[in-house]
This record gives sequence, structure tokens and C-alpha cells, in this order.
Amino acid sequence: MEKNVEMNIPQSVAIIMDGNGRWATKRGLPRTMGHKEGAKTLEKLIGDAGRLGIKYLTVYAFSTENWKRSEDEVSALMQLFRFYRANLLKLAVANGVKLRFIGDRTRFPEDIIKSVNELEAATKDNSNMEFIVAANYGSRDEIRRAAMKYAEDIKSGKVCNEDLTEDGFADYLDTKGVPDPDLLIRTSGELRLSNYLLWQIAYSEIVVTDVLWPDFNIDELKKCIEIYNGRSRRFGGV
Ligand code: FPP
Repeated sequence: MEKNVEMNIPQSVAIIMDGNGRWATKRGLPRTMGHKEGAKTLEKLIGDAGRLGIKYLTVYAFSTENWKRSEDEVSALMQLFRFYRANLLKLAVANGVKLRFIGDRTRFPEDIIKSVNELEAATKDNSNMEFIVAANYGSRDEIRRAAMKYAEDIKSGKVCNEDLTEDGFADYLDTKGVPDPDLLIRTSGELRLSNYLLWQIAYSEIVVTDVLWPDFNIDELKKCIEIYNGRSRRFGGV
């Protein structure tokens, strides 16, 4: 406990939750069991991260590339969301958490789109923490969609194309209003960004842990924050 008090808690944390498949395979289980355990890990972490003082937690649940997985695995992930939907709402209400989904939700089945919209609407006034789920998210796709929206605004005369600043462009991204991550965590030891928040992580500190996502917990999160605390952030200065 003493240590928590001294820890400098990053305001905005992003996580690439990797290693569900390997976690399951190591145990002779189907990959989908790894996702199920991974969802439980996430469920626990929402309250824990808020209590620790994190204000924005952004997790990579489903990438634009994940559609390439087997039909069984994709539909198991959809089912998992359907199953956790009610829990997610309960947890968000109990912990004062605002839910936001980033990514192109239009490709999901109708019932999932409806749930996502409802979860956002039901929690929009909560302010302890914002929990952002990247679903059918890819950074290149997000930037492409932002550019399209900007082009539409030029066409309609809403903006002038000489006006565009970096902050102005960031407002066209799905993460509008979310501070750039201070810390990006990737589990399972892979050294890749996997098309995640490429614009937003320009100056994030990256911590990779070998722990597989289903085994991740608040203590592992604190270890990542301790590593982050040991870094000297200069944002390109000296
Ligand atoms: C990466 O592990 C994980 C995913 C592609 C899915 C992450 C999803 C969850 C943790 C569930 C989210 C649930 C809700 C309710 C939002 P991997 O399958 O790529 O693992 P591997 O690299 O070991 O194969």
C-alpha cells in the first residue's frame, strides 16, 4: 500500500491484451478459452485501474485484422461481448466509469452495435475513469476515416483546409478528447504495435511484459507503472 502512495500514476494507459491463444494452447484448451479468461482479467482490471487513479484506460479488444481469424474464433469473441455486456454495464455503474468504443462499429452485427450505443449512452455522465474499448479498430483505418470526415467538412464549408493543426486533426480521430497514452503496455512479450493508436502513442512510454494477458492483474499493472516511473520523459526535448 505504501508503495501506491509514492507511485506516479499515469493519467492515460493503453493496453495491447495479447497472449490469450498461447495461454489456452499451453493448457491444451481451445483458443477461445483463452479469450474467456482474458475477458475475466479485463473485468477485474476495470475497477482496479480506477481505484489506482488511472483516468483513461484504452484496451485493444478486436482489431480490423482480427476478422482474418477462423469464423469460430471471431464468433466466439462476439459471443463473449454479448455475454459480458451486462457485467460491463454493472461494473461501469458501480465504479463511475464512462464507456467508449473506438473503431468502426458499423461492421458488427446489429445487436452488438445497439449494445455498444446503449453502453455509451448509459454511462456518458460517469467521470471517475473513462474505459475505452477498441473494437474493429485499426489505427490506419481510424486515420483514413478522420481524413474522410475532414474532407467532408471542407466540402460543406465547415472548415477551411488551411486551418488544420495537429490538435485539430486529433479531434477527427475516434479518441477525440482522450489524452494521448502516457504508458502503452503490451503483454506476452511481442515487440509490435499491431496498428494500435499510432497517432496517439507518438510520445508514450512502451512497456512490454512477458505475462500472458489472462495472467495479467493489478500487481502486474503496478510493475509496469514502476518501470514507467523509472523512465525520463523528454518529449523530444533535452
Ligand atoms: C490477443 O490474444 C487477444 C485478442 C485478439 C482478443 C482480446 C479480447 C479480450 C481479452 C476479450 C475482450 C472482451 C470484452 C468483453 C471487451 P491472441 O489471441 O492474439 O493471443 P496469441 O498471440 O497467444 O494467439
